[in-house]
Amino acid sequence: TTKTHIGNFEFENCFMNAAGVYCYDRNELGQVLNSQAGTFVTKTATLQSRSGNPEPRYHDTVLGSINSMGLPNLGFDYYLDYLLELQKTHPDRTFFFSLVGMSTEDTHALLKKVQESDFNGITELNLSCPNVPGKPQIAYDLETTEKLLTDIFSYFKKPLGVKLPPYFDIVHFDQAATVFNKFPLTFINCVNSIGNGLVIEDESVVIKPKNGFGGIGGEYIKPTALANVHAFYQRLNPSIQIIGTGGVLTGQDAFEHILCGASMVQIGTTLHKEGPAAFERITNELKAIMDKKGYKTIEDFKGKVKYL
Ligand code: DHB
Repeated sequence: TTKTHIGNFEFENCFMNAAGVYCYDRNELGQVLNSQAGTFVTKTATLQSRSGNPEPRYHDTVLGSINSMGLPNLGFDYYLDYLLELQKTHPDRTFFFSLVGMSTEDTHALLKKVQESDFNGITELNLSCPNVPGKPQIAYDLETTEKLLTDIFSYFKKPLGVKLPPYFDIVHFDQAATVFNKFPLTFINCVNSIGNGLVIEDESVVIKPKNGFGGIGGEYIKPTALANVHAFYQRLNPSIQIIGTGGVLTGQDAFEHILCGASMVQIGTTLHKEGPAAFERITNELKAIMDKKGYKTIEDFKGKVKYL
């Protein structure tokens, strides 16, 4: 079985979409809902709906993808309404609500609305959107991150996790983990896209916003994703679970994320390229690896990567 749990919630399968892919509206979310995925996460919602950056703003390459979407979304109320509806029609399932404000004040307003609502799922606060011109990624400023989480946990009592950008320096892993260990986080999600790469084809950039700079996903980023999952697995209180995201094309890639410590695995670029049928394929590939190795549950190998 590829069952898993995050916090006190059980999921029939450890795979789900990564925020931003197949999660913009009820149609896309409904397709993930009705796939083999264990759950879904919404597109990161802001207080007001946004149309995002000019197109083209997402481009697939042989080895992955580049995007600078600019947080297009239908607004907080749209996603909350759908999630509350699903709580009635699918009371046995749990879904993730991704959020971030365009300002600190907006982020608090959003999280207070979640706290006061009947939403009983899991909230993912996105600290790593690299694509809004003029806005730095919150999670690359650990002082700001610590203050934000301190203020949030003064009123927010529901299960909360954070979506993180990749870190690239051992000291940054140490410093970030020290901050996250101060809070009752349910999970961290490693990683968002590698920010501000540049893809060139035929003498030109391939996306319009920011003269072509955008977040990189897919095969390019698996070693960075695995390093972030494992670095935090080594450093975090065991009560903070890890969602592994980045470079999952196959069951083998997912197996490696779980070996590094992931309790749930998200699929972004591959889901964008292949559609929700990717969940069934990758789940079957992971199950075949587990069968061959005699692993019955993901707990049998989670975090157990071997060292030389
Ligand atoms: C967008 C991209 C991200 O990586 C993210 O975390 C949130 C939003 C975007 O460009 O829409």
